[in-house]
Amino acid sequence: MSLSKDKWLKYRFLRSYKPLALHVPETQRMTRNTFWKLVRKYTHVIVKPVWGSRGRGVIQISSIGNNNYVLHYENIRTTIHGKEQTYRFIKRKIGSASYMVQRRIPRPTIGGSPFDLRVIIQRKRNSAKWVVTGKVAKVAGRGYIVSNHERSKGSLLPVPIALHRSTIRHYSTQHLLSKIQRVSILSSKRLASYFPRHRIYGLDIGLDNNGKVWIIEANLFPSRSHFLALRDKTMYRRITDFKKS
Ligand SMILES: Nc1ncnc2c1ncn2[C@@H]1O[C@H](COP(=O)(O)OP(=O)(O)O)[C@@H](O)[C@H]1O
Ligand SMILES: [Mg+2]
Repeated sequence: MSLSKDKWLKYRFLRSYKPLALHVPETQRMTRNTFWKLVRKYTHVIVKPVWGSRGRGVIQISSIGNNNYVLHYENIRTTIHGKEQTYRFIKRKIGSASYMVQRRIPRPTIGGSPFDLRVIIQRKRNSAKWVVTGKVAKVAGRGYIVSNHERSKGSLLPVPIALHRSTIRHYSTQHLLSKIQRVSILSSKRLASYFPRHRIYGLDIGLDNNGKVWIIEANLFPSRSHFLALRDKTMYRRITDFKKS
């Protein structure tokens, strides 16, 4: 399997780069030990497959006290009592796939649904200059935690509109956008040292309730479909033109 799809590898590339370390949520390979360690530390965690895509197999686990745990996957929430039962339930879902466990980013919401962003960064052939060519807000469908729009039947919104409708509307849009820009360019530069010929990245960027920027995932083969789906096709055309030049 290709290294470019290995979430654990990409996590370590990004996290080990000093300027980005604080923007990458702590992640471990899933074992009984690491799982309970991160649940203790963060109360809410996300477990996801190392080779996953499109939101498949992503589960959120929250510790709610009295030895009870809430599991949220797809649009299903279920409460389980006891550590042993909880871990066994997750294990049954995971099967033999390799998984990781990650700190959950508490995302702001729009109409009660969490959202995060897809940011496209590209460089032209024979150029070392990285440019953000597209960004869009992905709002999770009702009842889902994953924002992947096909899986969760979520919606796509221009970022300034999403921010304005969200629970973090009191933060300056300009300030948030410039932080997103900075983290995105830094991520591309970092990834470029491992994938030197690569010319496009699609980052899943999460904002938290304090307006902090988090890198949830770096995709090396991002789809353009998010941008094709927007009424305004400017970003779609820019991404397409960049690919060709
Ligand atoms: N640590 C996290 N905190 C909050 N939400 C997350 C986290 N990890 C994943 N998600 C949600 O789940 C979605 C899918 O996870 P992601 O890591 O992007 O894998 P995939 O390859 O399946 O897209 C993300 O776009 C985001 O909406
Ligand atoms: Mg993703």
